[in-house]
Amino acid sequence: MKKRLVIFASGNGTNTQNIINYFATSQSVEVVCVLSNKKDAKVLERAKTSHIKALSFSKTEMVSPDGLVNELKSLAPDLIILAGFLLKFPEIILREFQDKVINIHPALLPKYGGKGMYGKHVHEAIVANKEPETGITIHYVNEKYDDGAIIFQTKTEVLPDDSANVVASKVHKLEHEWFPKIIEEVLNKSQKTLNE
Ligand code: GAR
Repeated sequence: MKKRLVIFASGNGTNTQNIINYFATSQSVEVVCVLSNKKDAKVLERAKTSHIKALSFSKTEMVSPDGLVNELKSLAPDLIILAGFLLKFPEIILREFQDKVINIHPALLPKYGGKGMYGKHVHEAIVANKEPETGITIHYVNEKYDDGAIIFQTKTEVLPDDSANVVASKVHKLEHEWFPKIIEEVLNKSQKTLNE
């Protein structure tokens, strides 16, 4: 049976698209659903175009025991991927899917993490503070913002003249290169643990 991925995203969804494309021909992994807290998010259109189930949910449904949790149980994911999901991930879901939720953050955590540090705000802060480098962090999700165990990090240089947009595109490039591969590794690792 194929391993099942469920993706949460709030906006454009270039990472989601990239993950969908990467696993489109996989014999062992499939993206079964894309969920968004924004009903008009571009990411939902992308999922539909790729013939993947696309759902949106309200904040109430997100934290209700018979809302999103039940939907997720029926989707039976092996891994839940946060790919640009900009709300705090609900504890009620984390409790059900312990160690099965991973997030990508557009900076080198623990720097530039926490509440309010997402998307372009991160890149603007990097430029404002004249950081010489930034990068990406892929990590397990726990009940605090950007705090779970780190799985993978990689860096990119920030030049003195780089704008926040330039930094954003450097970071996106790293995300697109690494996120699907790391997802695959995490899935393989949990398989190994099961067999041990
Ligand atoms: C990505 O850069 C991701 O790291 C970031 O949102 C962007 C979504 O891009 N996530 C966070 O900031 C979470 N704190 P995308 O919609 O093009 O995939």
